[in-house]
Amino acid sequence: MDFPLKKGAEIELEIESLAFGAKGLARLNGLVVFVERALPGQRLRVLITKKKRDYAEARPLEVLRESPDYVPPRCSHFADCGGCLVQNLRYEVQLAAKQRQVEEVLVHLGGFAQPPVAAVLGSPQQFFYRNKMEFSFARQRWLTREEVDSAQNISERNFALGLHARNCFDKTLDIAACFLLSELSNHILAAVRAFTKGHPLPPYTTRDHTGFWRFLVIREGKRTQEVMVNIVTADAPEGKKAVAELSAALQQQFPAISTIVHNINRSKAQIAFGEEEIVLHGTGYLREQIGACTFHISANSFFQTNTLGAEQLYSVARDFAALTGTETVYDLYCGAGTIAIFISKLAKQVVGFEIVPEAIRDAAVNCGLNQTDNCRFVQGDLKDELARVPLLVQRWGRPDVVIVDPPRAGMHPRVLQKMLELAPQRIVYVSCNPATFARDVRFLCGAEYQLEKVQPVDMFPHTSHCEMVGLLTRK
Ligand SMILES: C[S@@+](CC[C@H](N)C(=O)[O-])C[C@H]1O[C@@H](n2cnc3c(N)ncnc32)[C@H](O)[C@@H]1O
Repeated sequence: MDFPLKKGAEIELEIESLAFGAKGLARLNGLVVFVERALPGQRLRVLITKKKRDYAEARPLEVLRESPDYVPPRCSHFADCGGCLVQNLRYEVQLAAKQRQVEEVLVHLGGFAQPPVAAVLGSPQQFFYRNKMEFSFARQRWLTREEVDSAQNISERNFALGLHARNCFDKTLDIAACFLLSELSNHILAAVRAFTKGHPLPPYTTRDHTGFWRFLVIREGKRTQEVMVNIVTADAPEGKKAVAELSAALQQQFPAISTIVHNINRSKAQIAFGEEEIVLHGTGYLREQIGACTFHISANSFFQTNTLGAEQLYSVARDFAALTGTETVYDLYCGAGTIAIFISKLAKQVVGFEIVPEAIRDAAVNCGLNQTDNCRFVQGDLKDELARVPLLVQRWGRPDVVIVDPPRAGMHPRVLQKMLELAPQRIVYVSCNPATFARDVRFLCGAEYQLEKVQPVDMFPHTSHCEMVGLLTRK
């Protein structure tokens, strides 16, 4: 019998599992239904919101039976915030779901019949696990259901400093407290809000690209306790003075802040990145430790956001690289040289490649900080830097091992092609996106490599993100 599943229909469903994007997956007459805010094991009455040929989407109307793995969410913003989507699901169940999702992606996009995926390594901390938070300023504040219903605080709707609302990237939820970075960061957030709300310079808006305040980025060394505050703004005649005043107020209120920087982003791209940086207090950088290594991190440099999780991630990468001290290693997408330096004592030499100049400068400083003298760094776009492999090999030697850690988009096709020319014995692929990992690994395994093992590492509890390390060896 064909079920009359139409948009607007109300039906009862049992949630089987957690799908990508932290949606509950249910089946009805062979049709998959993705239900937002649903947990495995729940029985729900839902409203069908979208019907496609081979799947439907729904939202819950009523919980008829709660999941055995439900846990009360800790955060008061849970219902509205786009950050921790499954904070109400037992952590062990989150990990099992991530392992299954990685396996499924490798089957469907990677073409592997039985992908060798190990159980996910859990994050050592499940709250306050991040060393960096990026809060956005907005003129359009997301109103919670209670506010809409009660019409309270509506007059305050033209300012927000916080995180994106669930499923609504152009609205910002004003965040009072967040359990991802630290208690101190919540106090800094409140102080920055008090200073900027009602300030003559308004928040920036992407609607017409006007306004001033763009992002508040707080970084905190979990191992060093150093704190960096980075205020990212547009350009404005009175702007530098306003941020200097904010900086002075923060220094007075929070002696624990080690450094404050002001980054000016003149572009329309809504990213917490500046073309001009002004150091207002302290050194302008943060130090953090991963394992025995200390790293110097500039405001614009990438650094793994879960310090204790990164120790696990890098340890897996180091073990997969299986270095004996004689190898030349290329570290592609090396950021501030963190993996390169972490493994350097086990290799003959490591050559890192990275596009961001500040990160390359940090990498050089990091070598000094860690008494590392066998790492070299090359700044540039990898698709250009790898264009002439014979020249690279002449200069640095042929790599025995290549470690890659690309951004979410994965490796550029030209870079993938060049991997075959570099022909290392082992490729250690660190990835933050299972889909592009599966795509790239499929390409490499269609050529001269085989996938030996995949170790997922959870760096982002309560979210649908999953980091992983894959080991590929030459056939
Ligand atoms: C996921 S991060 C990894 C960084 C580093 N491995 C770590 O663990 O901190 C990816 C890095 O790739 C760099 N990147 C992005 N596109 C690039 C490109 N086309 N060429 C070289 N590096 C690039 C980014 O700037 C970023 O530092």
